[in-house]
Amino acid sequence: MIKTSGGELISIPINSYEDVVIARQQVRTKMEEMGYTLIDQSMTVAAVSELARNIVIHAGRGTMSASCEERGTKRGITCVFEDAGPGIDDLEKILQKKSGAGMSVELGLSGSRNLSDEFSVKSSIGKGTTVSITKWLRIVPLH
Ligand SMILES: Nc1ncnc2c1ncn2[C@@H]1O[C@H](COP(=O)(O)OP(=O)(O)OP(=O)(O)O)[C@@H](O)[C@H]1O
Ligand SMILES: [Mg+2]
Repeated sequence: MIKTSGGELISIPINSYEDVVIARQQVRTKMEEMGYTLIDQSMTVAAVSELARNIVIHAGRGTMSASCEERGTKRGITCVFEDAGPGIDDLEKILQKKSGAGMSVELGLSGSRNLSDEFSVKSSIGKGTTVSITKWLRIVPLH
């Protein structure tokens, strides 16, 4: 489990597709402020979208919180998606699923993991699911 060492930046309910849009916008704004590249913003926002959508589709309601992460000299953003829904059966198999294979354009949990630097998921049947993703800030040389 990732320890959050910085302050909380965002904490919002995820109860509808409108909330998914709000989550995307708020994470992008924070990442922009923190100095992330457009590519890193887009990768993380895609994962945020998928994980927030999963809450709406599979659990009905939940929350997303985002915080500043510091580990050693690294700084980043961690987004945590929490719900008290049905939980995920066969999590191992779902995480092995290749995203982009077949007709589906959905990223799924495995696609979200591929877009993140750190990924963790905890789920128990009948109790709920918590997914955490972290993206580290990369210092991009000017030339
Ligand atoms: N928060 C959640 N709570 C309960 N079950 C979940 C949750 N997130 C994912 N699942 C389960 O894991 C399965 C795979 O989800 P994933 O997002 O990886 O794939 P997907 O291709 O996006 O499928 P889906 O559109 O059904 O989410 C879902 O069909 C659902 O059964
Ligand atoms: Mg999904």
